[in-house]
Amino acid sequence: MKHKALPFLVSLLILFPTCFIAAQTSKDQIIAQKINAIVKQLTLEEKIAMLHANSIFGTAGVPRLNIPGLMTDDGPLGVREDVLEGWGSANSTTDSALFFPNGSALAATWNPQLSYRYGHDMGEEARARKKYVMLAPAFNIARTPLNGRTYEYLSEDPFLNAQLAVQSVKGIQSQNIAACVKHYALNNQEIERGKVSVEINERALQEIYLPAFKATITEGNAWTIMSAYNKLRGVYCSENEYLLKTILKGQWGFKGIVISDWGGTHSTVTAANNGLDVEMGSNPPYHSYYFADPLLKAVKEGKVSVQTIDEKVRRILWVMHHTTLSENPPSGSINTAAHSKTAYDIAAESIVLLKNEKHLLPLNTAKIKSIAVIGDNAIHTYHLGGFGAGVKAKYEVTALKGLENKLDKNTSIKFAQGYRAIYKAIWNTDKTEMSKADPALITEAAALAKSSELTILFVGGNRDYESESRDRPNLSLPFGEQELVDAVLAANANTIIVVVGGAPYDINKIKQQSHTIVWSWYNGSENGNALADVLTGKVNPSGKLPFTFPADLKQSPAHALNAYPGDSVVTYQEGILVGYRWFDTKKIEPLYPFGYGLSYTSFAYSDLNTNKKIYRANETIKATLQLTNTGNFSGKETIQLYINKPSSAVERADKELKAFKKVMVQKGATVEVKLEIPVKGLAYYDTQKAKWIVEPGVYKILVGESSAKIHQTTSITIE
Ligand code: BGC
Repeated sequence: MKHKALPFLVSLLILFPTCFIAAQTSKDQIIAQKINAIVKQLTLEEKIAMLHANSIFGTAGVPRLNIPGLMTDDGPLGVREDVLEGWGSANSTTDSALFFPNGSALAATWNPQLSYRYGHDMGEEARARKKYVMLAPAFNIARTPLNGRTYEYLSEDPFLNAQLAVQSVKGIQSQNIAACVKHYALNNQEIERGKVSVEINERALQEIYLPAFKATITEGNAWTIMSAYNKLRGVYCSENEYLLKTILKGQWGFKGIVISDWGGTHSTVTAANNGLDVEMGSNPPYHSYYFADPLLKAVKEGKVSVQTIDEKVRRILWVMHHTTLSENPPSGSINTAAHSKTAYDIAAESIVLLKNEKHLLPLNTAKIKSIAVIGDNAIHTYHLGGFGAGVKAKYEVTALKGLENKLDKNTSIKFAQGYRAIYKAIWNTDKTEMSKADPALITEAAALAKSSELTILFVGGNRDYESESRDRPNLSLPFGEQELVDAVLAANANTIIVVVGGAPYDINKIKQQSHTIVWSWYNGSENGNALADVLTGKVNPSGKLPFTFPADLKQSPAHALNAYPGDSVVTYQEGILVGYRWFDTKKIEPLYPFGYGLSYTSFAYSDLNTNKKIYRANETIKATLQLTNTGNFSGKETIQLYINKPSSAVERADKELKAFKKVMVQKGATVEVKLEIPVKGLAYYDTQKAKWIVEPGVYKILVGESSAKIHQTTSITIE
């Protein structure tokens, strides 16, 4: 009987995908027919009206045919508040939203499932707010630690970025809200971002800066993408034929809309013919935009064809079909308990334990009678600040509030501000104002520390200091914080230092001075609750740094090579050696390596094996290893798998991340961890042949807890 049923099952298996593909094709055909029918009815003027902004975040629709405008909103921290022309608040009462942890916090979780939940929940909030294109996720590579938007972006590694960004896109779009992946491409600095031209070799472009964009299009199926402000090889990204037509719409088969960054369009005919679909910007009069009256004129003069215009309109209608005009869309929801739980889970998994030499953490809360909480960052909120996208958070639990919520009621908590965190940048100038160390606040803080059993000292940046549109001048802690640290540590050695930031800072001195250091982020609405749970041990920290902390800025590749910020041109001289690829290849010891983060427990790695020793190009390497929790707390560990190619025909980084997995291990338990690497993932980009090549030969597989701490190695051969 079994045997007789087999052919039937086999034919079903063959038929099922065929039926599915056929059904999908006919569905696609029906949509295409509907779109064609609409395009036929539109006048040229109506089509042009769909291709440019008519308000800060919207475009015009065609009311005559019940076609709505595109309604976009920022991301990535959550759904932005409603703003008026000039970016002032609309003072609306229905636009508060959940504040999600910043990009580098999300990356520090190394948890793609959390990235999906982030996208999913933000998508629900966008739908509730009737914003159908979320301008998120943002994931330009952290090339320099000074980039003002490092906090908004994910990491310095293309593979980690891709794994996380694809899931965010899928999450957002599960709500029939379009993700807008940004900023395509090479927006790796804010200094002169509107003018600077990136000179980069093709290999670095393909291997470092494009993979996450490619993955969000080809795997994540993102419906929209935002062109970056800067130029690539002398041509603005918003009119760059190579980026938009050859790669994005050609090689990657992108079907959606290319939206310019706000005010990032610089031509009519070139941009229209080279692949830009929609021009956005914030300043009226909108009819004089490149893609408004001048585009109408260009079509009439035959410089842009009607087919080109129709193709853009078709793309917009296609995106609308999935979003604004989708059938039976989800209803959306905002500020729900489930969304708060997602924000909490991300925050809790993002916090990085940098040092815990005296095992002061987790806090023995029952025993502590008095705690001094010191530092402005204990009471600071981060949902707004600086220039650029924020969220009008429905609520944000500060660190101090979180500790008050979570600590034993018999523990006395006293607060001293310690430093003033005033930072003002004068828009369009280099001028800034920053508060300095305040001796009176320091004296008061030191006295409080002295009279308390334990001190938790908060320092770091904030969202005024780390901001879109400008880079940080250096890595120093702002606001004279180091002076406060010195005084507080002198007053009370029993001190935990919590540094809050979205990018690397120079904490060399703190690393020398202090036995207990925790890194936290602009950690969303649930910030304080998550942090308090980590400090008290309800949550075992599992965050891992998503970028290298240099011991000195001059160690970082772009700075070591004097290849930042450029003048009108910035040349990426480090090529593929970005982040840990540079540090490891050049054998430079950073302050903290990529992937670093401690736990309250310890893990032992053993028995790394692969399912085979020799692989062909179309196969997948299946690696397994045993991970034992050898400490006293249950907890999560992120296992990182890097490859190394000895004696390659081309330059290779000492290590390249190719797989990772975050797993929970109960204390005393051992789990088997499985990691898969498709052999094609080992390819390098051959510039001469313009092709990805998997080099035959031996590859080392290195598995560890960070880029610098490898516990197990093996090797395999590619035929
Ligand atoms: C930013 C984008 C943002 C847009 C709209 C620009 O300044 O670069 O990331 O989506 O403004 O706020």
